[in-house]
Amino acid sequence: MNIDLESIKKEALDNINKVLDLKELDNLRVNYLGKKSEINKYMQTLKEVSIEERKELGKLINDAKTIIEDSIKQKTNILNKAFNDAKLLSEQIDVTLNTKKNEVGSLNPITKVYREIKLIFEHMGYEVVTGPEIEYSDYNFTKQDTFYINDSILLRTQTSSVQSRIMEKHKLPIKIISAGRVFRSDAVDATHSPTFHQMEGLLVGEDITFTDLKGTLDNFAKAFFGEDTLTRFRPHHFPFTEPSAEMDVSCFKCKGKGCRFCKNEGWIEILGCGMVNPKVYELNGLDKNLQGFAFGIGVERLALLKYEIDDMRLLYENDIRFLNQF
Ligand code: DAH
Repeated sequence: MNIDLESIKKEALDNINKVLDLKELDNLRVNYLGKKSEINKYMQTLKEVSIEERKELGKLINDAKTIIEDSIKQKTNILNKAFNDAKLLSEQIDVTLNTKKNEVGSLNPITKVYREIKLIFEHMGYEVVTGPEIEYSDYNFTKQDTFYINDSILLRTQTSSVQSRIMEKHKLPIKIISAGRVFRSDAVDATHSPTFHQMEGLLVGEDITFTDLKGTLDNFAKAFFGEDTLTRFRPHHFPFTEPSAEMDVSCFKCKGKGCRFCKNEGWIEILGCGMVNPKVYELNGLDKNLQGFAFGIGVERLALLKYEIDDMRLLYENDIRFLNQF
């Protein structure tokens, strides 16, 4: 057998020079130096030639092999470097680019005020419960502005709907705050929304008097608006309490002197309350001689007052620029 070592070597070096990736380069290595390569086959034939010829040819073959091997090694380094360079380039980070600012969220004033009220009453031993928003009209007490689902089912207009639900199944004494969403068919404006939140207090036991109601709510007003807050109660009417009242607090802005905030009254109306009407006990199968009180707090109303927000709609838009102020 005889081969043209020179032209095999030249062809190999040419191809190695042209090759563009490591896999092809490895194919060339197999081709020119592997077991089935012409060079290797040629090597095998040396067994059959004389010692001198073997020495001479062996050296020629080994030189050619070394040259091809070196060239492959060199090319491997070049390709590896090119690969790494390309990778670095593609993963490059431009540290001078402007970054996108992440807006940090914040609690809605409704949530903040809700949590604050909850905590104040929990400290007085009240348990916070919830009731259904879709309610039988019998539980809701009659009210105008109602969204009816059918003749007997509606969206509750007030959390007072839980009074009967609690009395039906709760053991005495009852000392709860029912918190949640209520609905009224009001048009949206700065002071109205078709849905808002109320927290209903209910305390039922024995020997509970109007004085206890006044003390409880006075305590609440001082905790919420500040120690120097004064309270007053004005007679009112609610179907489920008798007697009923509305509670005012002294204006926390002008301390009762009269300002724009309290419309020069010195007082701001905060909530409705009263002694539970004995008829409500009777309707729920309880002893009508029980005594207790109830009150209803509007969460949005207190949030608007506390944070001096003059448009209720802002509370529902969840604009981060607004929320971040509280
Ligand atoms: N439910 C009443 C309302 O929406 C507020 C209220 C008043 C609740 C007196 C009461 C209460 O529990 O005793 O206007």
